[in-house]
Amino acid sequence: YDNSVKAVRGSFFHITRVVTDPAEIEANTQFVEDGLLIIRNGCIDWFGEWRDGRDLVPPTVRVRDYRGKLIVPGFVDTHLHYPQSEMVGAYGEQLLEWLNHHTFPTERRYNDLEYAREMSTFFIKQLLRNGTTTALVFGSVHPQSVDALFEAASRINMRLIAGKVMMDRNAPDYLLDTAESSYRHSKALIERWHGNGRLLYAVTPRFAPTSTPAQLEVASALRQEYPTTYLQTHLSENKDEIAWVKSLYPDHKGYLDVYNSFGLTGPNCVFAHCIHLEEAEWDCLQQTGSTIAFCPTSNLYLGSGLFQMDKAWSRQIQVGMGTDIGAGTTFNMLQTLNEAYKVAQLQGLRLSAFHSFYLATLGGARSLGLDDRIGSFAVGKEADFVVLDPVATPMQQLRYDNSTALRDKLFVLLTLGDDRTIYRTYVDGQLVHERG
Ligand code: GUN
Ligand code: ZN
Repeated sequence: YDNSVKAVRGSFFHITRVVTDPAEIEANTQFVEDGLLIIRNGCIDWFGEWRDGRDLVPPTVRVRDYRGKLIVPGFVDTHLHYPQSEMVGAYGEQLLEWLNHHTFPTERRYNDLEYAREMSTFFIKQLLRNGTTTALVFGSVHPQSVDALFEAASRINMRLIAGKVMMDRNAPDYLLDTAESSYRHSKALIERWHGNGRLLYAVTPRFAPTSTPAQLEVASALRQEYPTTYLQTHLSENKDEIAWVKSLYPDHKGYLDVYNSFGLTGPNCVFAHCIHLEEAEWDCLQQTGSTIAFCPTSNLYLGSGLFQMDKAWSRQIQVGMGTDIGAGTTFNMLQTLNEAYKVAQLQGLRLSAFHSFYLATLGGARSLGLDDRIGSFAVGKEADFVVLDPVATPMQQLRYDNSTALRDKLFVLLTLGDDRTIYRTYVDGQLVHERG
């Protein structure tokens, strides 16, 4: 009996290749009504029509039959904070007050390794029950918070990217590191975790206001020493935040120029929000090949503003979706796309179902430089996927029965879908979530 081989039957949908123009997405979609996925050692060994592949399944392997469901690549969440899970839905404030009143006191708890371990388990379960199989995650300032998270992810060999927050000013003393300690602790975490199984490290200065120039210098040094690591931070989320950056860094041309002048832009540099950018900043993101994490539920919840998707599209800047827990209000990517559609509507833009699924899967993977590993059912890729139940609720059943074209079925799925829609989640070829 070959335990390393698995076979999955059902309807499959994915986007087969990376595109530069959203208009090209539809021509690169593939729907296989009665399909088969064969997995060997956690990677995709064969994918296609059931009738073409059924004889390739070894007779000892039981086929997992998901006919009637829709199987898609696992979702990619390009921005969220694991030490904010317990403060989702904090009432009544915008970014800077929200940070001081809710976020910092909550993140303080992650000094306690046992607490961080409990919450890491909770956090990863939440990702899986929402179909998210890869995420780019902020820890707290405490290096042990990131140890706890990576330990939990490594137990299921999940492809997770995370980093210890660097912040050495403008926050309560109990949450500050120094340029020197942030270097030392980040370096130790990189040595321990970056490239350990499927785990990767992200150098994580919180945002320009909470780092001195000396600390941004250190962030840059770390990325030069370890060029395959990521860089994640926040950019132009809130108008008061931007004014504050300009007062703290008066010699710079603007907010992004702070990061750029320290060499903190480029491929695998992920900037969350990017709502109030100036033209020169859009140009800089484009020229450096940097990535944006679009976090609609957060941007609406904190009243930050509307992300201008058309600006990113016209410049072919990489965009991924982020839930931004805990300013965002859901771990669920379908609900996040539902809100993204509304953010587009408010600007007279249209976000199609195909484009939405692209952003949540292969496009998200591309925005993290992982499109050769995850995001579609191409042979050789890692077997991370989700089995969706398109009729998990009476309302979904009604709407599903009243739609015919695939694009409509997909669109209704992300408008009405939530964690009940996530029937099964597979990571590394293993079943890791079953809807209860
Ligand atoms: N800017 C700096 N820190 C944060 C954070 O934790 N959440 C959000 N949404 N924005 C930030
Ligand atoms: Zn954030």
